[in-house]
Amino acid sequence: MRTIAIANQKGGCGKTTTAVNLAAAWAQAGKKVLVVDFDPQGHTTMGLGVDCNRLDKTIYDTFKNTSTPVTDVIIDTDIKKLHLAPSNILLSGLEFELAIRYGREFALKQNLAGVNSSYDFCVIDCSPSLSLLTLNAIVASTDVIIPVQAHYYALEGLKELLGTIDVVKERFNPRLRTLGILLTFIESNTILSRQIQSQMRDYFGNLVFDIVIHRTIRLAEAPSAGQPIIVYAPNSRGAEEYRCLAMEITKSVTSARRGKNVKVQSRIA
Ligand SMILES: Nc1ncnc2c1ncn2[C@@H]1O[C@H](COP(=O)(O)OP(=O)(O)OP(=O)(O)O)[C@@H](O)[C@H]1O
Ligand SMILES: [Mg+2]
Repeated sequence: MRTIAIANQKGGCGKTTTAVNLAAAWAQAGKKVLVVDFDPQGHTTMGLGVDCNRLDKTIYDTFKNTSTPVTDVIIDTDIKKLHLAPSNILLSGLEFELAIRYGREFALKQNLAGVNSSYDFCVIDCSPSLSLLTLNAIVASTDVIIPVQAHYYALEGLKELLGTIDVVKERFNPRLRTLGILLTFIESNTILSRQIQSQMRDYFGNLVFDIVIHRTIRLAEAPSAGQPIIVYAPNSRGAEEYRCLAMEITKSVTSARRGKNVKVQSRIA
């Protein structure tokens, strides 16, 4: 199982949108996918049409002393092969509870161990902070995707995030890879958006995904219907872009395994 954390401490840069739609695109392509909502805001849960205030169990339960196995909190979604470990506001208490626990950085990794062989991909949506929750998500992951909103302050905060990823690699998870920076909210008709795109590519090179996600009204509307874009507007630009992203990653993962394709390999090395 490839476990991919969608992380950036910056709010509103498209983490949840990416988690929901990348996962859905993979499931549509026949992969078995688990989405872990690891944000107390519960947006991924809602984005998949689940009322986060009416849940018997959430991912939070897997951290309690009663030790609920993760398989007990996972629910089906309307999309075949796409399962969800939901969350809600209760998860916000975990930050403090974990703080005093021995091996606190590995708690999520341990809780997900039971489903390692059940899925092709596990996608973890992180909260907008560099908290212990986000640290747990990154430690539990094989890869990280960093959505970055194409605006004037795009680079701000990225250094800290990349620094944190390096620390995690060094201390907790040597095999962790930064799969790529995903440019979101692209407006191809503005000079600023084009400038930021080229600056990011100059600066980060291969680390920036070829595919970018444009700002579209359909992507903004889909969560209100509780549907991923591939269901809400299957022929829209957003649906196509998230399908391409899913394909781009699947290809890079397969090529890296076979030792092919230098460009893609260097991105995920
Ligand atoms: N490409 C896009 N075009 C238009 N709207 C978008 C796009 N991507 C995301 N949005 C909308 O922008 C808002 C923020 O996106 P999203 O929730 O994915 O960000 P986030 O990084 O998860 O936020 P947070 O940091 O609060 O968790 C949402 O209302 C979402 O529907
Ligand atoms: Mg979010």
